[in-house]
Amino acid sequence: MEVVTSIVRLRGLLAGGERVGLVPTMGALHAGHGALLGQARAECATVVASVFVNPTQFNQADDFERYPRTLTADARLCEQAGVDFVFAPAVEEMYPEPGLTGVDVACVSEGLCGQYRPGHFRGVATVVAKLLNIVRPHRAYFGEKDAQQLAVIRRMVRDLNMDVEIVPVATVREADGLAMSSRNRHLSAAERAQAPTLYRALCAARRAVEQGEREAATLRRLALAELETEPALRLEYLEIVDAGSMQPVAAVEAPVRIAAAVWLGATRLIDNVGC
Ligand code: PAF
Repeated sequence: MEVVTSIVRLRGLLAGGERVGLVPTMGALHAGHGALLGQARAECATVVASVFVNPTQFNQADDFERYPRTLTADARLCEQAGVDFVFAPAVEEMYPEPGLTGVDVACVSEGLCGQYRPGHFRGVATVVAKLLNIVRPHRAYFGEKDAQQLAVIRRMVRDLNMDVEIVPVATVREADGLAMSSRNRHLSAAERAQAPTLYRALCAARRAVEQGEREAATLRRLALAELETEPALRLEYLEIVDAGSMQPVAAVEAPVRIAAAVWLGATRLIDNVGC
């Protein structure tokens, strides 16, 4: 396995035309990323994992500074997962001059996290478009934990006729249900014990759907009641949205995501379930 920092070198290494799978990441890899890498390894001849903490998707400078950077450990995990190339460019390699061009995916980007993190999905869509142009993969793998990100990227690829298959991979959870996330490492021991309430709240609403409840307002109430059992959790949003457009629905009539963001101390957690 080689860690590559130059776009020109990576393009040269990938010139052979084999089926390439790309797993875009910001590093601080965990078992959730391991699932993405494992699926890419099983399906593609060549696997590229990108590790790039993308400054343009952070709307708060301290959040960008605080984001864990663990390239040595990440490269080790990638090697164990059978990755061929880790693409770990410097910020100057990806953005040698202030970018004048960006990708805005209207509507899908606007609710949920988009409402609270202005510019975030423009940063995500733009860097993913750049990575897809650099690597030119046949498939690119994204976790369902970031359901809105996945929806934004799928729509970008469709709208811009990008020649890549976007592969969703199920969320990997800890034994108590907490979705794996690079941000979990910021939780104190007490917060870590409180965090699984988020998943329990989403599951309460999903269970009600399975039992026949269709009204979004009722489902939301059920989830909020569970969330309120843990006063340390501060709600940012909890919505029932259409799985494609990410727009709130009044009733569950087609596939939806029940999605929420909460704060625990200084850490923001997001999660979602589908039904
Ligand atoms: O999900 C992430 O880690 C990032 O948003 C991504 C897709 C690598 C873009 O920077």
